[in-house]
Amino acid sequence: MTAQKKETFLKEYTPPAYLVDRIDLRVELDPRATLVQSRLQCRANTAAGGPLVLDGERLQLLRVAIDGVDLGPEDYTFGNGQLVIPHPPAAPFEVAIHTRIDPEGNTALEGLYRSSGNYCTQCEAEGFRTITCFPDRPDVMSVFTTTVVGDRTACPVLLANGNCIDRGDLPDGRHWATWHDPFPKPSYLFALVAGDLVCLTDTFTTRSGRSIDLRIYIEPRNRDKCDHAMRALKKAMRWDEERFGREYDLDTYMIVAVDDFNMGAMENKGLNVFNSKYVLALPETATDTDYEGIEAVIAHEYFHNWTGNRITCRDWFQLSLKEGFTVYRDQEFSADQGSRGVKRIEDVRLLRSRQFPEDAGPMAHPVRPDSYIEINNFYTATVYEKGAELVRMQAGLLGPERFRKGTDLYFERFDGQAVTTDDFVACMEQAGGLDLTQFRRWYAQAGTPVLECADHYDADAGTYTLEIRQHTPATPGQADKQPLHIPFAVGLLDAQGRDLPLRLAGESAASEPTAAGVCTRMLELRAPVERFTFVGLAARPVPSLLRGFSAPVRLRYPYSDADLTFLMAHDSDGFNRWDAAQTLAQRLLLRMVEEEALSVPDSFVEAFRQALKEAPVDASADTQADPALLAEVLTLPSEGYLADQMDCVDVDGIHRARETLAATLGALLREDLLAVYERHWQPGAEAGDYDLSPAAAGRRALRNCVLGYLGQAPDAGIVALAQRQFDTANNMTDVIAALRVLLEMPVDVAGDAGERALAAFYRRWSQEQLVLDKWFALQAQSSRPDTLARVKGLMKHPQFSLANPNRVRALIGAFASGNPLRFHAEDGAGYGFLADRILELDPLNPQIAARLLHPMTRWRRYDPGRQALMQRQLERILEVDGLSSDVYEVVSRSLGKDEG
Ligand code: TRP
Ligand code: ZN
Repeated sequence: MTAQKKETFLKEYTPPAYLVDRIDLRVELDPRATLVQSRLQCRANTAAGGPLVLDGERLQLLRVAIDGVDLGPEDYTFGNGQLVIPHPPAAPFEVAIHTRIDPEGNTALEGLYRSSGNYCTQCEAEGFRTITCFPDRPDVMSVFTTTVVGDRTACPVLLANGNCIDRGDLPDGRHWATWHDPFPKPSYLFALVAGDLVCLTDTFTTRSGRSIDLRIYIEPRNRDKCDHAMRALKKAMRWDEERFGREYDLDTYMIVAVDDFNMGAMENKGLNVFNSKYVLALPETATDTDYEGIEAVIAHEYFHNWTGNRITCRDWFQLSLKEGFTVYRDQEFSADQGSRGVKRIEDVRLLRSRQFPEDAGPMAHPVRPDSYIEINNFYTATVYEKGAELVRMQAGLLGPERFRKGTDLYFERFDGQAVTTDDFVACMEQAGGLDLTQFRRWYAQAGTPVLECADHYDADAGTYTLEIRQHTPATPGQADKQPLHIPFAVGLLDAQGRDLPLRLAGESAASEPTAAGVCTRMLELRAPVERFTFVGLAARPVPSLLRGFSAPVRLRYPYSDADLTFLMAHDSDGFNRWDAAQTLAQRLLLRMVEEEALSVPDSFVEAFRQALKEAPVDASADTQADPALLAEVLTLPSEGYLADQMDCVDVDGIHRARETLAATLGALLREDLLAVYERHWQPGAEAGDYDLSPAAAGRRALRNCVLGYLGQAPDAGIVALAQRQFDTANNMTDVIAALRVLLEMPVDVAGDAGERALAAFYRRWSQEQLVLDKWFALQAQSSRPDTLARVKGLMKHPQFSLANPNRVRALIGAFASGNPLRFHAEDGAGYGFLADRILELDPLNPQIAARLLHPMTRWRRYDPGRQALMQRQLERILEVDGLSSDVYEVVSRSLGKDEG
């Protein structure tokens, strides 16, 4: 292992030796040679003093001075990512550092880089050290003053964190602006943006009456696409005041959209930088899912102002302190904007399809990891989504009032500090008046707990006993698991599907709340086996277990198909109605994988027919079943989710089973499906204003889900239907859904309709980058046998570029992660292709290269032939010299070579 591939351990945390109270930066922008001058006001944090160690990488060090006196080469060392000054003064002192950096050559998109000719920064987690030398760790919080100097024509806009306090012109065609951020912050929240941007403005009045300037900066061609983002921002600001009592603190809030960005967005104090995918939208260019994503990410970054910025992380092992909590907050915000039930389903879908497999694979790690080689590899579904579930469980254990007391306490106690997940839990514990000692294990223990449930009904006594056994499978480096404190929400249904009042043995009837209030009980599991006996039951109930998905666990209970069909029709818990349908479909699909000839049972078809019958008759009647929820119920478990349920993944079998089931339903339920489709068909462009409301989006979701089934059993009529939708729809949701269906239909039925539609789509949208990403992704996800050849061809398309992360994700990511059938082709061609791309990409952008690798890290879950092929490619990557720490860590972990 080379020096850069050093592992960092939580248990080795020590407080910083020096603090930096203030930093003054002057950045003179130039594409290839930007000059950065910084002055740090330093003081010792511990009595020990000792050497001053600053981080610094990928930069040219021009000057180091202390208290105005230049240091000679003998006074410091610089190398291996560190600037070390062995004998700094004992009293507080000033360090001046001059560095030169190359934004144009920065393809990693970390630090200061250029996107479409504009300058921007991405400093989380450790990018600031590529701009200047600094203690680049979140527990060093400083007040930043930043002067940006740039060419007046190339960079009319000059931005940094905080408030603009001064600006002026220079004689040589340049100008400057000085920004001051009064809130001390870690370096990862630093941001600078400069370029030829236009600004859309609005204002927000806080509940205490302060007026905040809201500004979204975009390239001029995108000026008409920001309304939705601005609306979302204002909603998020109001919501955080109402729900969490959090008010915004600076006078301006700025968002900048850039086309080249490694992740979704970044919460830099007062100056968020966004992937343009999460800002720009028009009905013609963005789908309902895109609109939802924008609202959620805008809210997420805004919420970070309190959960992340005002209170930040002590070290990167605490990443979930800000990310888990902020995801919980954005989930709750989104739930309040539309349907809470549908939002919960979407969130659990994501958790199960991304986080559960992570927890079961070689990259498994606790929500608070113990060690990392490259912190960028730990921005994971575990830290984000499972972390949010841990906050959600605590909110559930405390109840809304006490949870709010807990968060109030947290904000008050730790404002302005860098703290730990344990500090958060301590606030919940204190405000909730409960003991969370055992609950804390959730943060330290990796792996998804399995709950095995059994039950017994005693007719004579009228009692019903539930027995729940928990265990967590071993994960790499964590063989022995401890029992967890698990909130387990339960309901019991009578034969008519009504909730029964729940009374546990030993509880007196007198203390029992009114029947309506106790239909769901939150049981708390602590021991490896727990038993709960409910009394006063005249007949055997049907249990509704883990309502609302009250804990991130895998539930096992021997439901009969009849029980599931019953729950699907009657459970008062919307989440469990959906989950019953999923389980029913999953079971059938897994049986179909095993028995190729298995036909679809009538009972399953009838359950679907029944669900379709309940589809709202009148599209505008809210009293009817929620179309969005129905669309979720009708959506079959994904290939990836089914794969996660198998001991040895049968790639082709899963695809075949899913297609067979969908085609069977499409054929047998044709009339019912068509009826639902036509009832919700809104004629195209002439229909006037496009309706973005959640209700309208839900109807589109249902209709497109139904169209998907019809497309699986196509004839000329269905081709015409999809064609009509493609030709006349006035919004991207309907256009893309129709295009997908046309492309997947066999040529003998649809002729070249799919190819013609694809070509028309390209002609229409060849200048809209975000829409073009959809064009690339659709082709990469195609189940057609020639998809890999097509993807290879698209790599040479003039609009393809390895330098743009969105485009890489759209083509290579969509193929490797979104097309299991073709990626896992038996001959290993998909694996070879991916390994080639990773080796090409790693020198350019290691973060993206490492993320693309993920589908191959789970090689042990496949048959011996595929295992060997994937392993060979992973080993081939590992042999390459000069691999980034990002790719090195993912490959070596997945080959199991990092142990010992
Ligand atoms: N803090 C960001 C968020 O969750 C995540 C992020 C944005 C990020 N860009 C990054 C993380 C680059 C690592 C590297 O909102
Ligand atoms: Zn975040």
